[in-house]
Amino acid sequence: MEIGAIIHKVKSCSSTNDLAKKMAVKGAGEGTVIIAKRQTKGRGTKGRTWYSAENKGLYASIILRPEEHSLSLIPLMAGLAVREAIFEATGIHIGLRWPNDLIWGECKLGGILCESGFKGDHPSYVILGIGLNLSHKKKEFPEAIRSISTSLKLITKKDVDREGFLQNLWKALNHWYQLFCRGQGLKIIRSFEEGSIFTKGQKIMLQSQKGHITGIYKGVDSQGGLVLEEGGKDKTYFSAEIKKLIYE
Ligand code: BTN
Repeated sequence: MEIGAIIHKVKSCSSTNDLAKKMAVKGAGEGTVIIAKRQTKGRGTKGRTWYSAENKGLYASIILRPEEHSLSLIPLMAGLAVREAIFEATGIHIGLRWPNDLIWGECKLGGILCESGFKGDHPSYVILGIGLNLSHKKKEFPEAIRSISTSLKLITKKDVDREGFLQNLWKALNHWYQLFCRGQGLKIIRSFEEGSIFTKGQKIMLQSQKGHITGIYKGVDSQGGLVLEEGGKDKTYFSAEIKKLIYE
């Protein structure tokens, strides 16, 4: 399998993740990519919508069929790949906000949405969805997210060469996904920590189903969980338990 060897381009769809899921269920091979010019029901994490105006962003989903069980590492490895591709294309190092946000300064540049299908206990597919703001002007973002959103064009003041960027992205994804498949989770975690916007020792507050928790950021554990020290003890959290992260 090679990510990017087979690419289906569509003008419009509800969500490339939904389309990729249908194709995965019908047997599409690992590495198959679906790209849309726009999405009518683009989805973000935690039931949020993903603003997907025509030709403004990259809306892509990739079918993966991992055997590995630490699926929580997939958004981290994907964030690293997008970060590497952006660096190759523009020379800038974006920040990674655990577990799936691509950040520049205080603003969100993109995000990752992974959705899995299982046969019994085993993953039969993972859909890796990548949303990246490429050429939005500030006023083109909906008002509700304008102050917290940015695009590559806003950052670099240059037009993005989409095709060139996609070549970088497939190369980087193939590199990081191979590390994942070969059990090099530790390399992914250490690299993610290096690219993270959080600094070890920093105070972070979580809003979880059980209430607010304040802890000291210790890093990411072997399964991709967020480790916080609370009252002298390390505790690990996964994205599903967390409503919101608050930090300075
Ligand atoms: C997030 O940060 O909330 C994740 C955003 C993920 C958006 C991408 S765009 C391509 C794929 N299709 C979707 O509906 N969502 C993901």
